[in-house]
Amino acid sequence: MSEEAIVIIGAGHAGVQAAVRLAELEWAGRIIVVEEQDGPTYERPPLSKEFLKPGASDEIAALRKESYFEDKRIERITGATVTGIDAGARSVTLSDGTSLGYFRLIIATGSQARALTVPGSELPGIHLLKTRDDAQALRRAMRPGAHVVIIGAGYIGLEVAAAAAKLGCTTTVLEFQDRVMSRVTSAPVSRHFEQLHQEQGTRFVFGAAVTEVRGNGKVQEVVTADGSAYAADVVVAGIGVLPRQALAEAAGIDVKDGILVDADSRTSDPNVYAIGDVTRLIIKDQGINRRLESIQSALAQAVSAANSIMGLTNTKHEVPWFWTVQHGVRLQTAGLRLPEDDIIVRGNPKDGRFSVLYLRDGRLAAIDTIAALSDFTVGKKLVASGAEIDPEIAADPANKLTTAVRELVDETR
Ligand code: NAI
Repeated sequence: MSEEAIVIIGAGHAGVQAAVRLAELEWAGRIIVVEEQDGPTYERPPLSKEFLKPGASDEIAALRKESYFEDKRIERITGATVTGIDAGARSVTLSDGTSLGYFRLIIATGSQARALTVPGSELPGIHLLKTRDDAQALRRAMRPGAHVVIIGAGYIGLEVAAAAAKLGCTTTVLEFQDRVMSRVTSAPVSRHFEQLHQEQGTRFVFGAAVTEVRGNGKVQEVVTADGSAYAADVVVAGIGVLPRQALAEAAGIDVKDGILVDADSRTSDPNVYAIGDVTRLIIKDQGINRRLESIQSALAQAVSAANSIMGLTNTKHEVPWFWTVQHGVRLQTAGLRLPEDDIIVRGNPKDGRFSVLYLRDGRLAAIDTIAALSDFTVGKKLVASGAEIDPEIAADPANKLTTAVRELVDETR
């Protein structure tokens, strides 16, 4: 029996899943997960959704019960930061000065919320939302009647806007682009969600470049480049994330806006893997070079890293998928769209239920579904199989999506 240790840095969705998978595969040595935050592991999706809603419970579900880790002999070190990786000696140093040797290292340090940098960004009352502590602080601040100004209309901005509106806050969203969720979806979907939020009293300002936050001892207003000032008791910046790659970079591991990894989650150091938000996946022969900020992808990478450590390679990768819920409306996405894809709107957004198909060279590359679970399930499979689609048949929701398929490229994908 090997006593070789696998050290995992980070107990988020990716890190915990890697530990779980190694335990399932019966790794014979130690599995040690180091996490800088104290306390149990926790689910992140509820932090910007249910947890902020009126009357929500204080409880945040754990990723796994502590007893699970004990049963599987997964060692957890919490409240300790990894301060350095010595790749040559195969060891990491912790903030308390101790070090841990590893046989293989898995970096799952995730991403950090991008902070505002304009003058006044240090004022109390400005929130980021990434951790359980952030969510608790935001929840305390968002009182009924408060003026909440949200910067960024991405997933965070919109999910928080929905909660703020429900709480009875006066809610304004300032977005740099000309529509919501422009990074992840197309205009018809953006318009639908804008309307939904507007109906609940949220105001959007597009093309808004925040230049300053003002206040006397605490935030009072947010100023944009055109000179407008928006009254604010609470400011939430949801302006994207940055990969936490500094440890890897300092250890000489290749990074470029993310730790570079292959399909098996290997980094440029053969003893080191990286998974989750901190990574950039590179698969040259498939033209893949991307960072994917998604739980599903983090979980898949965790499995592929653990498999690879155990000598199993070629882990099959699922089609990436995402979801968000805003004012009770669920948007589910499968596949990765490109802005230049052809768009088919299937159904009428006015009915509150529709899908948008993204075709690349006639094939289904991605699908967004709004309150249309069956399209999502079918669409995800069709994206995986590279299905060629008849646009006219697909556009009519009276037709089953499968009847629009002209040809499947690979039914096994
Ligand atoms: P995001 O990248 O989704 O959206 C950021 C938005 O901020 C963009 O619309 C961008 O145009 C805008 N923006 C950037 N700088 C700005 C500025 N200076 N002024 C005004 N607007 C500006 O990032 P977001 O919403 O912060 O989410 C962070 C991470 O959390 C992402 O990885 C996201 O995928 C993840 N997340 C995912 C959720 C989900 O899948 N449902 C829910 C919440 C977060």
